[in-house]
Order: sequence, then C-alpha cells, then structure tokens
Amino acid sequence: MSEFIIVTHDERVTTLTISRTDKKNAITKAMYAAMADAILAYTADDNARAFVITGAGDMFTSGNDISDFTTELTGNEKPPVVRFLDALRECPKPVIAAVNAHAIGIGLTMLLHCDLVYAHENATFGAPFVKLGVVPEAASSILLPQAVGMAVANDILLAGRTLNAKEALDFGLVSRVFNDAEYSASIKELAQHIADSAPISMRKSKDLIRNRRGDMTTHMNAEFADFGAQLKSPEFAESIAAKMQKRKPVYK
Ligand code: COA
Repeated sequence: MSEFIIVTHDERVTTLTISRTDKKNAITKAMYAAMADAILAYTADDNARAFVITGAGDMFTSGNDISDFTTELTGNEKPPVVRFLDALRECPKPVIAAVNAHAIGIGLTMLLHCDLVYAHENATFGAPFVKLGVVPEAASSILLPQAVGMAVANDILLAGRTLNAKEALDFGLVSRVFNDAEYSASIKELAQHIADSAPISMRKSKDLIRNRRGDMTTHMNAEFADFGAQLKSPEFAESIAAKMQKRKPVYK
C-alpha cells in the first residue's frame, strides 16, 4: 500500500497512477511495492484485460526517488524495485504506458517492458544515469539499443540526451503521440479496445512477440501451433459469429 499509487478499475481496464506530485512523482520503495502488487493482482484477475500506467500532474515520473535508492539489488531477497520490474516484464497480459508528461530514469526504462506506449505531445524521455553516477537498469542497456538503435541509445544513456515526443515516436520508443485535445479520450478508447479484444489470443500474441523460440523455423512452428489452436477456440468462433451478425464480439 502506498498513498502515492492510485489504482482504479473501470470495467475491464485497470489504471495505475503515480501520484506524488509535490516530488514530481519520484518513486520510493513503498511505491514500487504497491506497483508490483497492482500488476500481480491484474495478472491474477481473469476479468481484468488491460492495465494502464500513467502519472499525475506535470510528470509521468522523475524516476527513482534520489534519497531512496536500494543499494542491495542482487541478493536473494528481491527489493521492491526488482519485484516491480519482474512483475511488469513477466506479466502475460497487455500493459499500456500512457506517458502524460516527462519520463525520467526508470520512467523511461519501464516503458521498454510495456506493450504499448502512448504519449502526450509534451512528453519527454530521458535516462541520466551516467550524470547521476550510476548505470542503466531494467535491462535498458540491451532493450533501448534494440528499440531505438545503438546510436540513439548511446546518445540517451551515455550523453544524457532527452527525446521529445516526436523524436521518441520517430525512433520507435513510443507507439503513438496524441495532442492535448485528443490525449485523454484516445488513451481511454485504446485501453478499452485492448480490454475488449480476445484475451487468449492477446496473451498468446504477446508471448510470441516477447519470447523468441529458438531459430526462425522453430518460432514459426510455435506460431502455427498457436494459430491452429486459436482456429478451434471459442474466441475464433465468437469473432466469426460477430462478423456474420454484424455486431461487436464479446469475449468471456
Ligand atoms: N527524487 C526525489 N525528489 C525529487 C525527484 C527525484 N527523482 N525529482 C524531483 N524531486 C523533488 C525535488 O527535490 C523537489 O522537492 P522540494 O520541493 O522538496 O525541494 C520537487 O521534487 C520539485 O522538483 P524541482 O527540481 O524543483 O522541479 P523542476 O520542475 O525544477 O524539475 C525535474 C523537475 C524532474 C527535471 C528535476 O526535479 C529533476 O531533474 N529531478 C531528478 C531526476 C532524476 O535524476 N531522477 C533519477 C533518475 S535515475
């Protein structure tokens, strides 16, 4: 529990808001613990179909609270930040980041573990680890170069470059950018769209995207196995029935 992490439920959409506005939404250990718990609860709840992470006020998050870093990160006991990152990257269901404003440090690196990253036009993205005398975390030293290419990743991680929303979109760090007038409604609509989608198809697709199975042939065979299973599934039957009856599909 943390008063600074607000979790709300709207039908099948769960929204987690980082809300510690007087400290620019800096994240403490207690907040990481609450974030981990919220993601694990979402993972376990079959009725919850989409999870949105966002920030309150004029920040997404300014990153780890600089007076509340965990120094022992690799022991047997998982500290809250590791629990949070593990819960996020192991979540088999869709996670959406709605980057309302500035994303700094783990505010940027957590995005690499989200499935969809939607941003407000005024959002910015920076990871000033070297400036702080630390190093990249959350596997960002692998995932950021994969996402934006080595040249831009080095500019961010080594030279401390901050990207604006358009650059983040152009470089492939974010999925879509919305202007102020359309931002809130678009996030709501997209989250609802994900929540209304076929849940098993969604999980299997996420798994295929995230977890490569050996060589290309092996991976393609894994896709075919899932494809074939889905063709025999109630989800496929419902999608076809809905098409024939010219209505929206409803998935259990
Ligand atoms: N940890 C703890 N406190 C933070 C914080 C953080 N990551 N980021 C901001 N705050 C606090 C400030 O200390 C200040 O507290 P105070 O009012 O008690 O003095 C308050 O939030 C407002 O911050 P301020 O710096 O005055 O706001 P700003 O609009 O001028 O700048 C930032 C905002 C986010 C650019 C700036 O605060 C910043 O650079 N923060 C540190 C970011 C960082 O290095 N994060 C760690 C990455 S690993």
